[in-house]
Formats: sequence, C-alpha cells, structure tokens
Amino acid sequence: MDIKVYKGDLTQEKADLLVVGHFSDAKSFEGSSAVLDKVMDGRLMKLIREDGFKAKLASTFLTHTNGEIPAKRILVVGLGKKENVDLEAVRQTAAVAVNVAKECGSKTIVSELHVHGELKASDCAQVMVEGALLADYTYTKYKKPTHKSPKFFAIVVSDGKILRSAEKGLALGELAARGTVFARDLVNTPAHDMHPETLVDVAKSIAKGKSSIRVRVFDREALKRMGAGGLLGVAQGSDRPPYLVHMTYKPKKPTRKSIALVGKAVTFDSGGLSLKPADFMMTMKCDMAGAAAVLGTFSVIAELAPTVEVHGIFGAVENMPSGSAIRPGDVLTAMNKKTMEVLNTDAEGRLTLADTLFYAAKLKPLFIVDLATLTGACVVALGEEITGVMSNDDKVAARVLDAAAAAGEKMWRLPLEKSYKKVIKSQIADLQNIGNKWGGALTAGLFLEEFVDKTPWAHLDIAGPAFAEREIDPYTHKGATGHGVRTLIQLLRSS
Ligand code: BES
Ligand code: ZN
Ligand code: ZN
Repeated sequence: MDIKVYKGDLTQEKADLLVVGHFSDAKSFEGSSAVLDKVMDGRLMKLIREDGFKAKLASTFLTHTNGEIPAKRILVVGLGKKENVDLEAVRQTAAVAVNVAKECGSKTIVSELHVHGELKASDCAQVMVEGALLADYTYTKYKKPTHKSPKFFAIVVSDGKILRSAEKGLALGELAARGTVFARDLVNTPAHDMHPETLVDVAKSIAKGKSSIRVRVFDREALKRMGAGGLLGVAQGSDRPPYLVHMTYKPKKPTRKSIALVGKAVTFDSGGLSLKPADFMMTMKCDMAGAAAVLGTFSVIAELAPTVEVHGIFGAVENMPSGSAIRPGDVLTAMNKKTMEVLNTDAEGRLTLADTLFYAAKLKPLFIVDLATLTGACVVALGEEITGVMSNDDKVAARVLDAAAAAGEKMWRLPLEKSYKKVIKSQIADLQNIGNKWGGALTAGLFLEEFVDKTPWAHLDIAGPAFAEREIDPYTHKGATGHGVRTLIQLLRSS
C-alpha cells in the first residue's frame, strides 16, 4: 500500500473511500466533514442521525455518495469523546479505514488528517500511517489473502502550513510500521522454516550492503570456547546448532556511547524434557519474538540513523526433547561462571539469556534492554496486552516506559524484589532456574539480573503481547504483533 500526504480538498477527491472522523459528543461536523456535509446539502449528517450512529471510538458509518461528489463512498469513523482523543484513537481510526476498505474492496482511500486539540500534526500523521500499514498486514507465505489490500492511502491536509510536519510524521510512521511488519513476519514463520541458523541469515541480510551495520556470529565451537553453557545446554536436545549473533550499528559521527538491545531467540519451545502440554505448545514458534523485535528495529536502523552506537544481540537455539537433551537436575555453567541447576527444562529462556546478557554487559553499554517471551506468569499478572518491565535502574525503567507510552505500546513496571532471591537459590549450584509457585515473572527477572553485572538494564517480558491469540485492536490482528519494535525505535530516537 502506497501512502502519501498532500494538501487537498476532500470534496474534490476521486477516491473509492473517503474517510472523515466524528466525535461522539459533537452536535455537528467539524473541519473536513463539515465541508463535505455542506457540499452534500447536509445529507451526511441526516444519514448518520437516522442511523443512530454514536461515533464511539473505532465505530463506523459507511455510505455511498450517489455521485454527489467524485468519491464513491464515505466512511465516517467514530473518534469517541473530543476530550479523550489521543494518538491511539487516531492510530485506530486509520486502521479501521483500512479494514473497511478491505471488506468492501476499495482500492484507494483518502482520509483527512485527524489532528485535534493539543496533538501535533507530525505525530498524528505518523500514527495514522502506523495504523493503516499494520491493519493491512497479513502473513501470506502459506495462504492467499482473503481480501485484497488497498493500493493507495492518502492523508489530506487542508492547511498547507502543516504539510511539512505531516510528511515528517509519514516517514517515521512508515519506518515504525516496516520494522514491526518485519518482526511479525519472522514470528509468524513456522518453526520448520525458522531455525537458529535462519535468524543468523536474517541478521546478515539486514547488514548486507549497509556500511553502518556489522554482524559477528559465534557458532557452537566458538560458544564452547566462550563457556556459554546456557546456550549450549538448551540447544543440546535439538538437531539444530545454537548461535550467538552480535549486530552493531555505528552512527556516522563516531561516539563511545552505546545501547545494547538483547532478544530471546528460542525458535521453538517444546519445553524440552519438561514437555509442554499440547495446548501450550501451539504458539511456541513465537518464542523468538524478542529477537524479532531487535531484528525489526535493525531492519530500519540505518534510515532511522540514531546518534548512539547500538548493539543487537541474541542467542538463537531450539528447545527440544531428545536423548541428548538436558535433564531436570542437570547443572549448566554460564559464561560468567555462575552455575545453574536446571529443575525445569521449560524455563530455558533465562538459561540462554544468562550468556547473552553477560555478553552484552561486557560491551559496557550505557544500558541494556532485553525483550523476551519469558514467562506465562507475566501473562497471568498483566494479561495478554501488557508487557512487564523489570529494571535495576529507575532512570532506564523510566526511559523505557516513556518510550513505550509515546509509541503506544502498553507496558507496566514490576518489582525486582530482593527478598524473592532466596527462592532461586539452589541446593547444589549458584542458582536454580525456577522459583516457587508464585511471582514467576519476578523470579525470572531476578535470575536475569545475576548476569548483567550491575549494568543499568531493563527486562521486558513480552510473553503476553508478542503473539495475539485473538484480535486485539483494529491494527493488531490474530498472530504475531511485532510488539516492542515501536518502543525500541522511540527509545533510539530519544537517546
Ligand atoms: N516461552 C515460555 C513462556 C511463554 C509462555 C511465552 C506463554 C509465551 C506465552 C517460557 O520458556 C516458559 O516455558 N516459561 C515457563 C517457566 C516455568 C517453567 C518456570 C512458564 O512460564 O511456564
Ligand atoms: Zn519454556
Ligand atoms: Zn521459552
């Protein structure tokens, strides 16, 4: 779908679908919709009144124009109450327009720029582009799309003064959406097409032809030399070897400041010998969503051109049961020499992240952010839509939460309660990889903290939001969500 912003007059646009917004508490139309209604002799307002259209957020009213104006159909999208209109409402409005266009086969969409109150034109254009492109997404490798995508989405501004800033927003929105779609495709890819070595290839292909991005790959032999017992241990049951991948983005102006982005990269999590029940295994191709978010961010990082150096690091493995798999009770030694008793082979993410985080900490970045589909317990605590943020540094936590809020991704801080450290102490090793029944997201976070070496760090448990088991909102359909990419992009923009 091609997206453009230009100055124009909605009443003159020759589109299959013309989109205007309407507040639920407005007595009359405002702005573009008012102009449109006037040209139609008040017929639009009459129709939505007759229909009882309430203009609740993301609700729709669709009508033909009967040739009164050049456009074929008009879609009025509800914006909800005027005082409540925020960027998320604007993002959803554009997404709804694309969903309706798909349903009725509209090829060209022309929408007014929904900019209201205190909101900035650039931000509004950005989130409209995000909403439109993300709503349009489908994973098409194994099934032809049931609906045809619109070809063209235009955002029309009536005031030429805001055109430039709307265009800037468009460019950012396109980057954020492209990075997110990149991550979605990786996560939706079935595990038979997505092996640890596939993620290595993806990293290399991102770097190809870009002088600002380098990739280092550590294979099984290298991992043995490094003493990466966590990665090696988890990979032991799989026919596919593990890899540690380290991507580096260097800005044009050299700087010593760097940020490390770390992702969990378990290409399939069967649970290992502590095998998952069938129902819980169904979606476990999603267990590399953390790495996918990092790769999605790197796929647009050269264009984003942040001024800090950025490391993207993930340890790719597959967690399978077999005669060579690690057993409950086995002890692994991580790269920092800490020993880990594996009481449950399904708590594999923290074993792989132990090595990966330690590797990241050795680079001495300003801070580390890791993203991991780490615990079901986090989903129990916060539900399917909210990421749990745990951090050893209030400033880093605030930066991440601010970035998430600005990017429109839901995140909430959870405590790294020191007192719970006792439940991950092992009888025979430094640590054990499970706690007791309770606070599973927190004990996983505490486990990870043992490997960051006091580096300021935030851990994002994305087990809930990474993969949608149902439709979440107008631009997050069932399947991989690409959650985290927008926050990471925002974080890099503000760093
Ligand atoms: N990959 C899972 C966590 C997960 C659950 C991701 C649901 C996405 C959706 C992780 O490796 C896991 O299995 N965790 C265990 C830990 C437990 C054994 C301590 C869990 O959450 O049950
Ligand atoms: Zn697991
Ligand atoms: Zn897992």
